[in-house]
Amino acid sequence: MVQGTLSEKLLNWFDREGRELPWRVKGGAHPDPYVILVSEIMLQQTQVKTVLPFFHKFMKRFPTVQDLANASQEEVYLYWQGLGYYSRARSLHATAKMIAEHYQGIFPSDKTEVLKLKGIGPYTAASFLSLAFNLPESVVDGNVVRIICRYYGLTEPVQEIMPEIREKAEALISFEHPADYTSAIMDLGATICTPKNPSCETCPWAEKCFARLNNKTEDIPVIKKLAKKEKTAKIYLISNAKGEIYIRKRGEKGLLANLYEFPWEEDGLINLSSTDLQKEVTHIFTHFKLVLKLHKVQSETPNLGGQFISVNDLKNFPFPTLMQKVWKAYLK
Ligand code: ADE
Repeated sequence: MVQGTLSEKLLNWFDREGRELPWRVKGGAHPDPYVILVSEIMLQQTQVKTVLPFFHKFMKRFPTVQDLANASQEEVYLYWQGLGYYSRARSLHATAKMIAEHYQGIFPSDKTEVLKLKGIGPYTAASFLSLAFNLPESVVDGNVVRIICRYYGLTEPVQEIMPEIREKAEALISFEHPADYTSAIMDLGATICTPKNPSCETCPWAEKCFARLNNKTEDIPVIKKLAKKEKTAKIYLISNAKGEIYIRKRGEKGLLANLYEFPWEEDGLINLSSTDLQKEVTHIFTHFKLVLKLHKVQSETPNLGGQFISVNDLKNFPFPTLMQKVWKAYLK
């Protein structure tokens, strides 16, 4: 019964040490699945401390799934500004509309149905079902991978042993307290079994942890890094005689869809005379690294499908983090 004991130890630790978070209730399912949906989508790829202020503002403006469904995409984007990965905002909005219109505001608790919703893959489906409906679903993110590999001493590259990691993670979940177990293992990864300098002294699983006993927490998990492709492009900060700045809206599809930008291009088609500012902004996307070289342009008629706006108005347009970085670099 080592496994039962492990989840009990974790749950006892969680009762004492688990974080109080605005989207969390201890002791079972959250009463409002919408709260779990919003927080889980925000927490994809983003850390808790970054999400907190965004979550508060978002929930204040869109307190119910109906409020979110009724909002414009542009407004939802504005509330997402700074969180990055805007496709999440688009998916969350689409899911809210789906729930409001096709499910009469009642969230499904069936996995097949949940997986049909936009922005919800296997990980988020599992965390949503466990936290919103107290269902025994196994949540395997980077934190859980680290915990499992260290505890069981799995030293092969993570990418090659995911089925084994998933199996071991699944065998540990609590059928009595699934929601708390999910929160607990997330907290263990975030606060104790951290990538660097884990706090093994206070870990509820320290006694039989392979990595701790063999002094190998620094070496496990083994993650093979893939080199990212690099792209270079020019970005144009175009001003007119009034001192306004030129922005344009991106298309419906693809990278940073529907967000605003300063015109940029990889292939040198923009034909405007410009000054190279000798400044660069680098941004890491999931599949590539983008290096933007800043160029300054003075023009009244850029003809690039955009518009001039006053600098004070920039805050009213949803800009991706990348463009915010460009603007900061430009002002420096
Ligand atoms: N990461 C993903 N979901 C989370 C949650 N509900 N609480 C804390 N961290 C998380």
